[in-house]
Amino acid sequence: MQYHYHKHDVIIVGAGGAGLTAALYAGKEVDTAVISKLYPTRSHTGAAQGGIGASLANLEKDTWQWHAYDTIKGSDFLGDQDAIEFMCKDAPSVVYELEHMGLPFDRTPEGKISQRRFGGHTNNETKQPVLRACNAADRTGHMILQTLYQQCIKHNVNFYDEYQMLDLIMVDGECRGVVAYEIDTGDLHVFHAKAVMLATGGWGRVWNITSNALTLTGDGAAVVLRHNLPLEDMEFFQFHPTGLFKLGILITEAVRGEGGVLINKDGERFMPKYAPTVKELASRDVVSRAIYLEVMDGKGIDGKDYVYLDITPDTVNKYFEIDDSRQPNGELRHIDSDYVRAKLEDITDFCKTYVGVDPTKEPIPVQPTAHYAMGGIPTDIDTRVRANESKKDVVTGLYAAGECACVSVHGGNRLGTNSLLDIVVFGRRGGKVMAQEVKEMDFQPIDADAAAAKVQAELDGILNSTGEETLAVLQQEMKTVMSKDVGVFRVEEGMAEAVAKIRELRQRFKNIHIDDKGKRFNTNLLEAWQLGCLLDLALVTAESALARKESRGAHARDDYKERDDENWMKHTMAYMDADGKVTLKYMPVAVTTHKPVKRVY
Ligand code: FUM
Repeated sequence: MQYHYHKHDVIIVGAGGAGLTAALYAGKEVDTAVISKLYPTRSHTGAAQGGIGASLANLEKDTWQWHAYDTIKGSDFLGDQDAIEFMCKDAPSVVYELEHMGLPFDRTPEGKISQRRFGGHTNNETKQPVLRACNAADRTGHMILQTLYQQCIKHNVNFYDEYQMLDLIMVDGECRGVVAYEIDTGDLHVFHAKAVMLATGGWGRVWNITSNALTLTGDGAAVVLRHNLPLEDMEFFQFHPTGLFKLGILITEAVRGEGGVLINKDGERFMPKYAPTVKELASRDVVSRAIYLEVMDGKGIDGKDYVYLDITPDTVNKYFEIDDSRQPNGELRHIDSDYVRAKLEDITDFCKTYVGVDPTKEPIPVQPTAHYAMGGIPTDIDTRVRANESKKDVVTGLYAAGECACVSVHGGNRLGTNSLLDIVVFGRRGGKVMAQEVKEMDFQPIDADAAAAKVQAELDGILNSTGEETLAVLQQEMKTVMSKDVGVFRVEEGMAEAVAKIRELRQRFKNIHIDDKGKRFNTNLLEAWQLGCLLDLALVTAESALARKESRGAHARDDYKERDDENWMKHTMAYMDADGKVTLKYMPVAVTTHKPVKRVY
C-alpha cells in the first residue's frame, strides 16, 4: 500500500452536522480539515426530518428551563443536568445563527421561524405539547447540512472526501492524528494533528430494522474502544416508534406533531391508554413500547408486527375535535391535504415511493425502528473525551461530538429534535475549544510509518484471509440476535444469549474471506472492517444491558420492570480489552436541579 502524509492543526472525522459545525468554528481560526467516508452532504444528518428544538417562543410561551426539564424527564433522569441546561440555554442562539447563515426555515405568517409540536416537549404548566421544533418542512437536517457545508467552503475548510478513518494515532495516552484509507485508490493517509474530533455518527446497523443508512457503522466509537478507552451508556439505544414497515425508513415524529394518530387493527387509537395527557406525543421509548404491547396483544395490523400512523385529514380533524386541540390563537386545529403535503412533503413522497401509500388518503404502516445511540464516547461539555469514570481525566488531543459522543444530554431516552440541537450546540462548542487550544501548542511527534503499517497489517489480515465465513452471514446473525434479544424489551436469558452469540461471531469474524482483493473502491474490504466495528459495539451494548438490572428509558426489562434510582442512577462505562473481555465501571449522573420523579405523560 502507498502511504501519504498530511498535517493540519485540527482534524475532524465525519462531515455530518456536528463535524461541519466544529469545522466551521475551528476553521475560522486555525488550519482545519474534515475527513469523511462520504461526500459531506450525503452524511446522515440529512436524514433528520422533523425539526430542531429551541424555546424561541415564536408562537406561544416557552422557556429554556421548560426545555431542559422536558429533556431531563425524557432522559428518565439519566441525562447530566449541567450539560442539558447548557444545551437548552444555547439552543435559541444556534438556531438564529443557522437562520443568519441562510437556512430556509418554515415561517409563521409574521415571518418568524415556524415551530411545531414534538414528543415529550411540553408547556410545563399545562402539561400539553408545546410548539418548540423549528423546522424546514420535513427536511430540517438536510437543510442544516447544506447550510453548514456551504459555510465551511466559504471559510476554506479542507475536505478529504471518501476517506475512511481506520485508526487514531495515540502516543503516551495522547491523540496526535488519524490514519485513513482513500477509497478511490486504496492508499493509506497519515494525518498528523494537534487536535482530533470524532463526529462519526451512530451504529443502527447493529439491528435488523433501522432508520440508519448503510454507513452508520460506529467506526469512531469502535476505534476509541480499541484504544482501551470507555464507552458510556451503550445499553441505551433508541427505537423510533415510526419506521416504515419492514424497511425501517424514518417517518418523522412531525407526522404526530401535526396531528397524526396511531391506530391498531381494531381501528382503535391506542395511545390514550398509555399516555393520557400527551398521547401520540409521549417520549419515544413510551410510544415504541406501546406499539409493541399492542402487537403482542394481537392488535397488529393483519396479525403482523405493525400498526397504522394516520394523518388523513378526516381522521385527524375528528380527533382534534374530540381532544379540543387548539392553536395558540384559540382556534380549533384543522388540517387539509394541501397542509399535509406542504408540511410533510418528503414523507408523502417516501410513502408513495416505498410502500405505494398516499398519506393524505390512507394510513401509513409503521413499526419501531433502531434509530439513535444515546450512549457513546464519553465527553465533557467542552467535547473533550473522558479517559475514565473519574469525571476529571480527559484524553489530551481527542474530542467527540454528535451521535457518536455521549455528553450526556440524552440519558436513557432522547427527545426528538434534540439530536439536531446536540450536533450544532456541541459542534460549535468543540470547534471553538479546539481552535483556542491548538493555537497555544506545537505538533507533538508521531511515528507516521508505524501508524500506517499497523493499519495495513489489519487490512491485509482481512484481504489475505482464506477462511470460510462470509460477511453477509455474520452480519445477518448479528442483526437477528440483537433485534430479538437486545431490542425494545429485554430479559436476562435473552441478553445472556446475545452476549454469547456476539462472542461467537467475533471469533468467526477472524475466519472471514472477501472476494474483492482490489485496490480501487473496495467496498467489500471496508464493509468487512466496519462489521468488525459493529460486532465490538454489539458486544458492549449487550454486556452493558445485561448488567443493568432495572428498566429506564429505552432499556426496558421484563424481569426488572421498575426504575431503580437507588442502585442504578449512574452511567455505565464499558471497557474492552484486546481479547474481547468487557469490564463495566460506573460514573455518577450530574444532578443540578431536578430530583428524579416517576415519569407520567
Ligand atoms: O422524527 C423525526 O423527525 C426525527 C427526529 C429526531 O430523531 O430528532
